[in-house]
Amino acid sequence: MKVFRSVKDLGDLNLALQEAMEIKADRFKYQELGKNKTALLIFFNNSLRTRLSTQKAAMNLGMNVIVLDINQGAWKLETERGVVMDGDKSEHLLEAIPVMASYCDLIGVRSFARFESREDDYNEKILEQFIQYSGKPVFFMESATVHPLQSFADLITIEEYKESKRPKVVLTWAPHPKALPQAVPNSFAEWMNAADVDFVITHPEGYELDPQFAGDAKVEYDQMKAFEGADFVYAKNWSCPGVTRPEDYGKVLSQDMSWTVSERQMAVTNNAHFMHCLPVRRNMIVTDDVIESPRSLVIPEAANREISATVVLKRMLEALK
Ligand code: CP
Repeated sequence: MKVFRSVKDLGDLNLALQEAMEIKADRFKYQELGKNKTALLIFFNNSLRTRLSTQKAAMNLGMNVIVLDINQGAWKLETERGVVMDGDKSEHLLEAIPVMASYCDLIGVRSFARFESREDDYNEKILEQFIQYSGKPVFFMESATVHPLQSFADLITIEEYKESKRPKVVLTWAPHPKALPQAVPNSFAEWMNAADVDFVITHPEGYELDPQFAGDAKVEYDQMKAFEGADFVYAKNWSCPGVTRPEDYGKVLSQDMSWTVSERQMAVTNNAHFMHCLPVRRNMIVTDDVIESPRSLVIPEAANREISATVVLKRMLEALK
């Protein structure tokens, strides 16, 4: 695997899930695979889970790890060609990428949507440059449009906790004070569409996800109706994806607090498990009662980030041979 950004990059999803369970049973089984290999983790944005779980995954595989926070100690990077660099940016991404790549074997990059241009974000302008100019395998640690390590961990968690062969999984929009990217819901939709689940998306009008990720998933605008009989409720805020009105891309269209996931909605589910990728704003996205309930999976879900990252890095190391 040279690039990891999509569920498609894993090939057979059942085999990938089996591999995840094998690694969970013995997470140091492939310690020799990463000997004398280096993972470089580059963060343009903040992180707690991705940073720690991906470092741990690399260490599980016997790798060395370098973590770089671009905005804390590195030179400020220009990302556009043709710019006269007379401002505060001292280095261009086109030099920085091959330099960084010369010190490592695998590169992970986190670079969120900038909301300056829908086209730039959805064309993955930053990550594509890493793929093109690094000459190294690149894995996405949350890009402008996708967060595949999170969705793989979410799927592993659903596999572990499902109580029926084909559970009903509901992705619900929930309110948030700031404009957030669509990476988590995009990937979650993509991965659920590929999994053996009954998948429903619910959100206020105007928040339709890009069809390349939403696919044929059922969209139900009535949140209570969507929650009926759900086995898993996955809450997330996202800003307007700009599908129907491109001029609204990245805007907050609603702060309707009736969408906050509470006991009121959970009461109509099939005693659903609650999921969220974290970090979460309590009593905006979800009430204290729901996130603290025994049916909440937010901690096991975060713990499975180590497992999803170990599988992905293992496959990338195998492809280096
Ligand atoms: N879920 C997730 O990616 O968390 P961090 O932003 O803390 O890495």
